Amino acid sequence: MRKVFYLTLTLLLLLGNLIFAQTKSIVPQPKTMTRAEGHWVLEPGTIIQAATADARKSAAIFNELLEAKAGFQLTIQHQASAEGPVIHLDEAQVGEQEEAYTLSVKDKGVYIKGAGKGLFYGLQSLIQLLEIRGPEVMLPQVEIADAPAFGYRGIMLDVSRHYFSSQQIMKVLDLMSQLKFNTMHWHLTDDQGWRLEIKKYPKLTAIGARRDSTIIGQYYDFQPFIYDGEPHGGYYSQEEARSIVQYAADRKITIIPEIELPGHSSAVLAAYPELGSFDVNKNEGKGTIAALNDKGEPLDNDISSQVPGYWGVHYNIYGPTNQAYQFLEDVLTEVMDIFPGEYIHIGGDEVPKDHWETSALAQKVIKKEKLADEHELQSFFIRRIEQFLNENGRKLIGWDEILEGGLAPNATVMSWRGEKGGIAAAKMGHDVIMTPNSHLYFDHYQSEDKSTEPLAIGGFLPLEKVYAYNPIPADLTAEEGKHVLGVQANLWTEYLATNNKMEYHLFPRALALAEVAWKSREEKDYQSFIHERLPFRLLDLEEKGVFFRIPEADVQISKDAESGRHKVAIKPLVAGARVYYTLDGHKADQTGLLYAGPFLTPIPGAEQKPLTLRYVTVTPGGRSSNEFQVPLE
Ligand code: ACM
Repeated sequence: MRKVFYLTLTLLLLLGNLIFAQTKSIVPQPKTMTRAEGHWVLEPGTIIQAATADARKSAAIFNELLEAKAGFQLTIQHQASAEGPVIHLDEAQVGEQEEAYTLSVKDKGVYIKGAGKGLFYGLQSLIQLLEIRGPEVMLPQVEIADAPAFGYRGIMLDVSRHYFSSQQIMKVLDLMSQLKFNTMHWHLTDDQGWRLEIKKYPKLTAIGARRDSTIIGQYYDFQPFIYDGEPHGGYYSQEEARSIVQYAADRKITIIPEIELPGHSSAVLAAYPELGSFDVNKNEGKGTIAALNDKGEPLDNDISSQVPGYWGVHYNIYGPTNQAYQFLEDVLTEVMDIFPGEYIHIGGDEVPKDHWETSALAQKVIKKEKLADEHELQSFFIRRIEQFLNENGRKLIGWDEILEGGLAPNATVMSWRGEKGGIAAAKMGHDVIMTPNSHLYFDHYQSEDKSTEPLAIGGFLPLEKVYAYNPIPADLTAEEGKHVLGVQANLWTEYLATNNKMEYHLFPRALALAEVAWKSREEKDYQSFIHERLPFRLLDLEEKGVFFRIPEADVQISKDAESGRHKVAIKPLVAGARVYYTLDGHKADQTGLLYAGPFLTPIPGAEQKPLTLRYVTVTPGGRSSNEFQVPLE
């Protein structure tokens, strides 16, 4: 009897600890959250009371998430009856911020208050608090008051280098909305593929959306290059794009479409070569418009007839001609009709200006318009497009190269080559989104040891570095800092051809980014993030079928005073995960020793090398991490 009592007590304590830990696990961490005693049990008979159409839409999305987690949905009603448990949704703005919300779980019911977005975010926090214990679905009693630090919280998806299905885009939108991101920047066009149906220019998708073959590996892997011999393509019909826009809007996400100009346009020019910088009727430009490999050798001398299957910046770009402007205005007219958000992204990055140096068409415009050089020509081109967008009630946003040659009067700048461009633009009084390649390029490697990682473009961007990013540079005054609207991670997909790889590069770094975007620098705390929140959110991602990268465990090595041996303590960063390890220098996998608590390591002899801890983390779902190594020095 005593045994049963102690067993029950231990179980209850364990359960209590887990629930308490889980209570703190909302990502992004709310501004304030206090935990009260007790729980509230969510039952299939619970009512969600939602008086407005928008609140009911958010409640329906909550219901879908609840069904996936708990196997049932709640009834949504305009009015709740006096009897029975109720989640009350009160659509009314909390304080000054449109995205703020309050959430309280009391013994009498759940109350969430916020304007449209705030209410949605309150429901997202609520679902993250859910605890499933056998047949019981519980919510801890809490009081939350929450609001974001930044109004722009984004992720950019490149679907040009590799096409991803609408279903996959929607999966990412779902996950983004659960982390309270509010913007998806959709990189729809680039040298390697045009991905949006444009009714007036059918060749954009008939020709521009498909390439015959794609280079394999990194540029330095094979000389000469090896191509896969497989056609790659795909595009979103306008109907599909509209559904995605609506799907995002229901989840409080705005989509910013990007139509690249004047560079990164060789997929367009494969379809409509007459829009380029050379007179194709006179057969001009051939042989002069080659992209170069890393040795400076031409890759292809006739790129006007097909969509290229290799990466890098391509030389074939729009000409500054009335024909090209007309085309772009026609395209943007259709784009604006599909995407109702205020921003249209026009790219503007990495324009090979030397291409225009060799173009008679471009030189003629420079002379006629009395422009100093090709930089000013780019500025002239972009100002023209900005005027068109502004006349149509939209705002232009572009990469930081749009500063070169003079910034268009109302442009917003996306700072990607570090923070310099963002700082300059903010000082000029322009709005800025920070997305520096030093901290927020999610195509970069997640380990310094590239041999343990799947192929990526390069770089090294660990979770901690993402978390450490502060969007407002120290060089800005408080007033200038207000122009920093927020942050965005960029996911370029040259080396990301599959859904799993897309998810591997997004997660867990998107969880860190969610806190960078939601919390002020003073409120962020990496240790609490990795220990109190990350493990539960990763478990949740596993249940949702997301192929996240399983992070390195927190490994603490100390000296045991008594024995002089190393003491090793390992905390995996996925809740409920196991760790298997070796100390004998050989590969660790699930045949290794199961970690059961801190241990002392053997001491090598005086002339011997230190030992290495090798380990893998295995999730409750059975996925193994890469093998990690830690020298025991
Ligand atoms: C960029 O990475 N070229 C914006």
